[in-house]
Amino acid sequence: MGAGGIMKKKEILYWLDPDRDPAPLFDMADKVRREAVGDGVHLRGLIEFSNICRRRCYYCGIRAGSPGVRRYRLSAEEILACARTAARLGYGTVVMQSGEDPAWGPAALIPVIEAIKKETGLAVTLSVGEHSKEDYRALRSAGADRFLLRFETSDRRLFSLLKPDSDYDNRFRCLAWLKEAGFQVGSGVMAGLPGQTRESMADDILLFKELDLDMVGIGPFIASPDTPMAGAECGTLDAALRMVALTRAVTRDAHIPATTAMGSVDPLGRQKALRCGANVLMPNISPTEHRPDYRLYPGKICTDEAPERCAACVESMLAGLGRRRAEGQGHSLKGGK
Ligand code: 5AD
Ligand code: FES
Repeated sequence: MGAGGIMKKKEILYWLDPDRDPAPLFDMADKVRREAVGDGVHLRGLIEFSNICRRRCYYCGIRAGSPGVRRYRLSAEEILACARTAARLGYGTVVMQSGEDPAWGPAALIPVIEAIKKETGLAVTLSVGEHSKEDYRALRSAGADRFLLRFETSDRRLFSLLKPDSDYDNRFRCLAWLKEAGFQVGSGVMAGLPGQTRESMADDILLFKELDLDMVGIGPFIASPDTPMAGAECGTLDAALRMVALTRAVTRDAHIPATTAMGSVDPLGRQKALRCGANVLMPNISPTEHRPDYRLYPGKICTDEAPERCAACVESMLAGLGRRRAEGQGHSLKGGK
């Protein structure tokens, strides 16, 4: 296995085999992580600012029309208060994530982005779904630095099954527009989706490389009740970790988070991810009262905690791993960004 060389699909498939001992892969990915991005772990404060969504993705617990979801949207002032909390906790970035909420469209977001930049100077990452090329440009001009838009699976057929009101080609058009607009771009997938083949997971990883992503987020699929996928078999942490390790090996310097979904399927899930390629944590800084309502999947961690609790938790996690907080805002490590 060549840690420095580019992995071929055949080798990726070899390591995605659940019967293969992943230890050599994980060790190699940990080494590549240390060489390419160092021991520092970037902390990004996650603000889940609206759970209102116009889409009906089959896997998602806050899909439009889902019964029993108590809908909420934070006000501009509440979002700004979260950003102040992030600054106080010493995080370099705020990640503003929401459903595709028509009331929180680009026009409404722009003054909030400007206010956060002006008042805190933090890096701002948006995770607010599909928009037009012009809107992406406007969000970038307002000062947003990064954008996360997972493509969820590279398998066109599976994508249209899981996202009945989205278009596969448009998803990738959006990723190209984001790059053109000058964002640092993140994407990613769920591991272990029903009907997802190992072949398509290998394609996901090769596509991360081809898209030249700045950030890649991967988490296990967790079946949500009250969705069309209730009762479906969930993805395993093992599959998600293998994908993280392979993504590290293939991209080398992408920022890769140890995701909340990983911590939700295994209490040590995020620690394990940090030891096989991940270099980012996204502690939740949303107001505690709304956290239970941003339930993308059951068993989601940090739903009862206050921002300070998550901060203390990630701090002790890093200490336990012999890692440290990274310096700076954690911008892309790719040239020119
Ligand atoms: N299980 C795991 N991850 C999920 N996401 C949404 N629903 C689920 C689920 N049931 C992930 C998607 C989305 C991100 C915000 O959360 O990949 O892009
Ligand atoms: Fe929230 Fe551990 S990160 S409780």
